[in-house]
Amino acid sequence: MNLDGTLNSLNLDGITFREIQVDLNENLQRSYALHRPEMKLSKKSVLSVFVLSGENSSLPLGEIAALIETYSKNSTCIAVQKRVIVSDVSDEWAVNRIAERSAFCRFGGLLIGMGSSLEELFPYPAKEEKEDFKLSFLSERKEERSFAVRTETLSRESCARMGSIIKEKTGWRVSLEGPEYVFQVENGGENFILGLSRSGEKKFSWKERRPRARRFFLPSAIYPKLSRALVNLSRAREGDVFLDPFCGSGSLLIESQLMNIDSLGIDLIRWIARGALLNTKKYHNDHSLGILRGDSTRAFLPLRKVDAVATDVPYGRASSTRGKTTERIIKEFLESLTNVMPSPSWEDLRQKYCVIMHPSNAELASVENETFRLVERHLIYVHRNLTRAISVFKRI
Ligand SMILES: C[S@@+](CC[C@H](N)C(=O)[O-])C[C@H]1O[C@@H](n2cnc3c(N)ncnc32)[C@H](O)[C@@H]1O
Repeated sequence: MNLDGTLNSLNLDGITFREIQVDLNENLQRSYALHRPEMKLSKKSVLSVFVLSGENSSLPLGEIAALIETYSKNSTCIAVQKRVIVSDVSDEWAVNRIAERSAFCRFGGLLIGMGSSLEELFPYPAKEEKEDFKLSFLSERKEERSFAVRTETLSRESCARMGSIIKEKTGWRVSLEGPEYVFQVENGGENFILGLSRSGEKKFSWKERRPRARRFFLPSAIYPKLSRALVNLSRAREGDVFLDPFCGSGSLLIESQLMNIDSLGIDLIRWIARGALLNTKKYHNDHSLGILRGDSTRAFLPLRKVDAVATDVPYGRASSTRGKTTERIIKEFLESLTNVMPSPSWEDLRQKYCVIMHPSNAELASVENETFRLVERHLIYVHRNLTRAISVFKRI
């Protein structure tokens, strides 16, 4: 993709961004291509930028694409670089919410500019052009504001120079401690990228929620970052009913409750279900629909409707499989889910997803049925003998 610095001047008329090839697995590329092969921008386009952490996996990109779909259905995203995603989500609230929810997003904000030099990066117009300025996010903020520049790519001197350019153009005040706005500079390959957000800080701590720090510990419990990404891949949002049918100690439920999603867990073993209840009580309990003891592979789900599912199926010695293969467990569960997760209808057009984490050697082609189609897959290396796969099924 050649950006030609055009984005910098925000003269976007008629430009078509094509998807660029990032190092993703084939399934993910296929799903993006199906979703929207190209994105056309007009002069009025307001864009956003999301900067991801550097995991060696397609999961961060998959997660951000899922969140964009959740909050801005017709928007699309383009990987300018593997870690830098530009999208046409223009609503400030949605951009903040996506960045806040994401496990792997280091920064999310409105895209202010792209350019090969620092001066080129910041297209804030001269005074007389202000009325015409398309980034309402900036132009509406006339009174003095405080800001900081954050970057991992610029030297200290360049960062200070960037700060003085911004100060001169906006009249805002520099505040390194607790600024109201953060300007983030990233190296986007051919160009630098400048984004703006109300606050660049994440408000929660992963460490506090790690499995060992919980009241009830299960050796197969997964870490909060991965749990959150799984919930986000399911496209669950506030007010939805989210289900983890093999919930163990409740790692995914903790994350979904914290994101204000009504959450229900099921586990076959009574003492584990009790432990999950203990763990989930601590976090946004008003979004807990409870934990049930039951067998999720038998068409027993005691619900009328489920909007989103994410889970980590039992395998190996650490958790009970009752002699069933992973494929069989998933197949039977998907069959039981069919009745409680209706396909999109004219009343509710939203696509629904079921996200399943499992050992990568499971052969999932055989578990697809007429109601669930495999649309996306991510691989996560755990250790020499275990690579996990995350398979995303879409309700047809
Ligand atoms: C891999 S563990 C889940 C771990 C969980 N993600 C966590 O972080 O604690 C799988 C769980 O599925 C439960 N399980 C096994 N067979 C089940 C079934 N048929 N229905 C419901 N739960 C089942 C096991 O008791 C186990 O707690």
